Amino acid sequence: MKKSIFAPGVVKLFGEHAVVYGKPAIAAAIDKGVYIDCVSSDKLVVETVGITTGLRFFPLDRRVEAFGAEKFFAYVETALRLAQERWGDLAAKFTIRSDLPPSAGAATSAAVSVGILKAYALCAGADVGDEEVAKLGHKVELEVQGIASPMDTAAVTYGGVLKILTNPFRVEPLKIQLPPFYIVLLPRLGTTGEIVKDVRALLGKRKSATWVIEAIGKVVEEAEGCLRAGDLECLGELMDINNWLLGALGVVDGRVVDLLGMLKPFIYGGKISGAGRGGVVILIPKEGDVVSRILKGLGYPYYKVSVYPKGAGEV
Ligand code: MEV
Repeated sequence: MKKSIFAPGVVKLFGEHAVVYGKPAIAAAIDKGVYIDCVSSDKLVVETVGITTGLRFFPLDRRVEAFGAEKFFAYVETALRLAQERWGDLAAKFTIRSDLPPSAGAATSAAVSVGILKAYALCAGADVGDEEVAKLGHKVELEVQGIASPMDTAAVTYGGVLKILTNPFRVEPLKIQLPPFYIVLLPRLGTTGEIVKDVRALLGKRKSATWVIEAIGKVVEEAEGCLRAGDLECLGELMDINNWLLGALGVVDGRVVDLLGMLKPFIYGGKISGAGRGGVVILIPKEGDVVSRILKGLGYPYYKVSVYPKGAGEV
């Protein structure tokens, strides 16, 4: 029998990068993410639908090879290995579909990792708690990326809007409502691992940069109050401040500054979400229709999203 899991993507409303250095952050699961189906089969096989790959054809061998999605499959492979170690062998076919392109910066890697683990456990008839799935999902990200905080995998696992606290790592659900907002996907210049390493190098070299991390921590604390009060004006202003602070860390480029500048009259505010250098930009719209029309004209992929109140689970 077919079992299906939806694992939400995640945006960082506040605090990325600083969270790596012990500051709090606020993350939200969104209603766009990854779907994973699992049916029993005679052997373990993974099929993807709509995940962009190039194909290389070797006519003499009558063989086709996919390329360009190696990173994506590294998460799939690692999650399957950890699942197999934990829940034993499983002969099943997994089908993966994603609303969002992989490596866009909307935590699709965390969604794939957590989603595969959940689907595997479900199909193997095993019971698994959220805490264990979040931990295993983080292990997948660490193995593949070499560096990653547990934020994304926790947000995929628990859903909703979460305050992320570190030392020790824990999550606190913020029971708040947010109106739908936009995410724009800009081509990324660098992987999360590379960008996180660059920020670390800057902090090692320039002591003043550590004050930027401190300031981001303060923004997160203030933003929690704005979110709880449902104050979109305040939310937007603090997103702008957070974005400039991330710019000081070298992860916000001119494309983002131009985009936010152009949309300024029609949004409360916005910022990059995640590691930066392109990737996801969040926009909190004042006039959604205008924002949508401008984004369409610019030609970047964009999505209107809502907070997804639940974590990865059966659908
Ligand atoms: C990446 O989504 C968010 C960063 O803070 C890195 C991390 O927390 O692992 C940039």
